Amino acid sequence: MRVVSGIQPTGNLHLGNYLGAIRNWVRMQDDMPEGGQCLFFLADLHAISMPHDPAALRNGTREMAAALVACGIDPARSILFNQAQVPQHAELQWLLTGTARMGWLNRMTQFKDKSGKNREGASVALFTYPVLQAADVLLYQATHVPVGEDQKQHLELARDIAQKFNNDFAGESDESGVFTLPEPIVPPEAARIMSLRDGNAKMSKSDPSEMARIDLTDDADTITRKVRKARTDAEPLPSEMAGLDERAEARNLVTIYAALAACEPAEVLRQYGGQGFGTFKPALAEVMVDHLAPINARFRQLTGDGEALDAILARGAARARELAQPTLARTYAALGLMRG
Ligand code: TYM
Repeated sequence: MRVVSGIQPTGNLHLGNYLGAIRNWVRMQDDMPEGGQCLFFLADLHAISMPHDPAALRNGTREMAAALVACGIDPARSILFNQAQVPQHAELQWLLTGTARMGWLNRMTQFKDKSGKNREGASVALFTYPVLQAADVLLYQATHVPVGEDQKQHLELARDIAQKFNNDFAGESDESGVFTLPEPIVPPEAARIMSLRDGNAKMSKSDPSEMARIDLTDDADTITRKVRKARTDAEPLPSEMAGLDERAEARNLVTIYAALAACEPAEVLRQYGGQGFGTFKPALAEVMVDHLAPINARFRQLTGDGEALDAILARGAARARELAQPTLARTYAALGLMRG
């Protein structure tokens, strides 16, 4: 079992990242059977696909490393690093661009969302981004990739690339192919956490309104204020799940409560059905604060020691480079590329 996943080090880690992905990273690390390995990385190479400030990216990379450790990623058990220190990611990406098809990339919804009406002005990196993402996981022969729902399409592309490459270039000595097909692991209870301002938009780092998301660095007062101001309707909560249809904001808050309290949404409705948001919101804020306060405290401690964070990333990168080498060498060889 080889678990690989990444996060862009832009903006703060928010509740959607945490419930959709990072919590599963920690669970998979903690339950890893003997002989398995987890690799978690900061996707700094992906971050340059959008306009960015270099100083903010450098700070963001350290801060995101601190946030992941604060959430429970243990650098002694998992390999934690940033892509830029492992050049094999960029190298494999180029080798895979010969296999990825334009038509496949044209179907990627994230490119359409992020480029919006300005397709011609979007960077080439934004378009080829999913090929780098495929390289990220194929480089390590990942078997499982814990992600939120929004990354599933990119993982399917990674599988398509792996399959086509294996078909086109499997040599006689390598009949099973060069790459393992990775399996996305999406938590059913928190696949898609929505914005607190709009129940039909996902909670996102790039939302201009901070009120739309809960950052893991928010203190108790900020969390309570954001939950109090979260958009809702005027009806009390229903007692049955069917009553949440057409009530995207209410459904999102119930989903978040259930994911944090580790229970089913139906159980939340059994407890709060018939009650208004005046009662439910303070209860939700309390569950959030209980859950996030220890993470927040660890984060504050860790960010104070930049040198220790740099050392963690350097150590992780050295181990990642070593693990990446054999697959990269097989890829060059399969393509008939001579390396001296
Ligand atoms: P990123 O940085 O946008 O998000 C990191 C992880 O958080 C999940 N996520 C969510 N889950 C539920 N609800 C939400 N509102 C929500 N918002 C974000 C994402 O699904 C993701 O798992 N392209 C990736 C980074 C990446 C990667 C990879 C991931 C680069 N290479 C290889 C896996 C494997 C991204 O931008 O995630």
